[in-house]
Amino acid sequence: MFPLAAIAGAESEPNTTNKSLWPQGGLAGYHGRREEADMTDKRKKVTIPELYGMVDRGERISFLTAYDYPMARLEDRAGVDMILVGDSGAMCMLGHPTTLQATMDFMVQITAAVSRAAKRSFVVGDMPYMSYQPSDEIAVRNAGRFIAEGGADAVKLEGGARMASRVEAIVDAGIPVMGHIGLTPQAASMIGGLKSQGRDAETALGLMEDMEFLEDAGVFSVLLEAVPARVAEEIVKRADVPVLSIGSGPACHGQLLIVHDILGLFEAFTPKFVKKYADVAQTMTAAFEDYVRDVRNGDFPAAEHTYRIPDEEWSRLQEALKEAE
Ligand code: KIV
Repeated sequence: MFPLAAIAGAESEPNTTNKSLWPQGGLAGYHGRREEADMTDKRKKVTIPELYGMVDRGERISFLTAYDYPMARLEDRAGVDMILVGDSGAMCMLGHPTTLQATMDFMVQITAAVSRAAKRSFVVGDMPYMSYQPSDEIAVRNAGRFIAEGGADAVKLEGGARMASRVEAIVDAGIPVMGHIGLTPQAASMIGGLKSQGRDAETALGLMEDMEFLEDAGVFSVLLEAVPARVAEEIVKRADVPVLSIGSGPACHGQLLIVHDILGLFEAFTPKFVKKYADVAQTMTAAFEDYVRDVRNGDFPAAEHTYRIPDEEWSRLQEALKEAE
């Protein structure tokens, strides 16, 4: 077990007061001493105790997806706290229609690329469809690949109570697990499509039950996807672990978005919760059009893009060619 909630001194009763769930010294049992999270040192690797420290201090956690080295390098440089190597890479990077086409080999390879770039950001590898659903043993073996081959700091898997034994088995193997409930794209056909979840009292209560199962199983955090903001707030109040949001409102301890959505690089559809921060597709398209025009016109390459042969060698070459004629 990786009993962070217990280590942090949090009880299972709802946190009805406003007091912190991670009191001073709360992580001492696990880490020997409480490490002060020094977030002024931007190059220091973010760790789980540091994430807990951020929550303690009321600092919100920034979380973005990345699927390759250059994107992860820029996110890391910009100060993104956590990077998810999402199975959404199957859609954003490979053009598949859903996340279900992501394979373990693909996920491990792109996780390794992201991990090489992430000097500070905490990297979470997303377990793809059928890499954990069949059995606890398969789940542990595949989670291990994300750590050993992918260099990830933790793994994420979808599902609540039904996945509790998978979480417990992976955590027992010493691998931190992030839970993922609400809209769980790998189970889209079971939950009625890519739709917001927890919009009636019964299903909202179901999400709260799922949270408890996941916490008892030992998750270090939970991602809530597309849950109404008021429901998410109730979940956060009762949570013993950091709650990250993708489309679940501002009460959560941190926010995740898909990098291709915020840059305008994913054009198939845009979920309601996305905020677009740049139109990189437009910038890239303009650059490609300029290149095509330059090549067609002969404006590229110019002299500064070509290599030179020294004049003396050039003369020798000309003589050799004449002799050969
Ligand atoms: O793969 C992914 O990017 C995800 C998000 C949709 C949460 O799992």
